[in-house]
Amino acid sequence: MLLKKSIEDVDVGGKKILLRADFNVPLDQGKVRDDARIKAVLPTIQSLLSREARLVLASHLGRPKGQPQPDLQMDPVASRLSELLGRTVLKLDQVVGPTVTKAINEMKNGDLLLLENLRFEKGEESNDESFARQLAEPVDLFVNDAFGTAHRAHASTVGVADYIPAVAGLLMKNEIEELSRCLENPLRPLTAILGGAKVSDKINVMRQFLQLADHLLVGGGMANTFLVARGYDLGDSFYEKELVEEAAAIISESEKSGCRLVLPLDVVVTKELKSGSASKTVEPAKVSGAWKAVDIGAESVKNFGEYIGRSAMIVWNGPLGVFEIPPFDHGTRLTAQKVAESDAYSVVGGGDLVAALEFLNLAEDINFISTGGGATLEFWEGKELPGIRALQDKT
Ligand code: 3PG
Repeated sequence: MLLKKSIEDVDVGGKKILLRADFNVPLDQGKVRDDARIKAVLPTIQSLLSREARLVLASHLGRPKGQPQPDLQMDPVASRLSELLGRTVLKLDQVVGPTVTKAINEMKNGDLLLLENLRFEKGEESNDESFARQLAEPVDLFVNDAFGTAHRAHASTVGVADYIPAVAGLLMKNEIEELSRCLENPLRPLTAILGGAKVSDKINVMRQFLQLADHLLVGGGMANTFLVARGYDLGDSFYEKELVEEAAAIISESEKSGCRLVLPLDVVVTKELKSGSASKTVEPAKVSGAWKAVDIGAESVKNFGEYIGRSAMIVWNGPLGVFEIPPFDHGTRLTAQKVAESDAYSVVGGGDLVAALEFLNLAEDINFISTGGGATLEFWEGKELPGIRALQDKT
């Protein structure tokens, strides 16, 4: 496992600290709709404040591409953070510059403020040297707690670490430990569940789990590409034509690996992807014409459940059907219940699936929920994430 220094290894009292968080949260009419990512950083914030640090919080929100955008200002995050901390969070309208420097210089021990959206600045995503230097200049220490953004080599995740000491926050440390455990020291049998629309996002992680896991269960739109590779027609179902050959290669690799690749035995099909439209459950061989496969069927749920019941560790990324359009949420819902009920140590990542688990009130029954989407997948692929690489080593 990567051993990186964290806030537990350094003096923070009286220091001006730039704390990079991932407050890239969904908004709804100017309010934070899901505050899970904000709550996840609270232990780091509270620890640093109780140790008399002066905290400068910074995050991106959305993809404004270097241009200020009123609907992506950080004000809703500041309000939610104020509510959660029970104290006012001062939010600045700038990211760098004289106003920011002055505000930081006036801070006292235990104070905190929040900068404007990092991605309003052109230098953020291009990891511009002079922007990174401007971010670092008014502070003494960089703490990165933005695990969800650790796969991006941006000024606030990588560049800034060239100018001031950089250590992990508690969330970052926890994410590294939990996600590494699945790769380096899994409990067995280890079952990986992968879903979501596209195989293209998950090829590398699939190959990784074919080497590591005992079972790999595949659902969601990505399963369609595998079913087509197995020779089924699948009617009007979504699948990635250009990846059928790759899927066939993965199927044959799985036959030589020690991992059992499990595809849906049946699928729920509809002609129209909207709530309440007519649907039926059929075997993959019976999907034809205008029918589209949009969820795994009851036999598949049962089969997946049997693997889940025999597992000691489960890792899961991606929903198994079109969760947001009932009744095509059944496959994900019933599988989530099985995972929640099982004695296995469960680790779940990916925004869509985590939101689904929260909606189902099952999140508390999962042992570890990663705050990352793309970052979790890349970590599980075995890549060294640039935002982690930039932190100081422990020894
Ligand atoms: C995420 O939501 O996955 C992270 O905040 C990264 O956002 P990005 O994909 O816009 O870089």
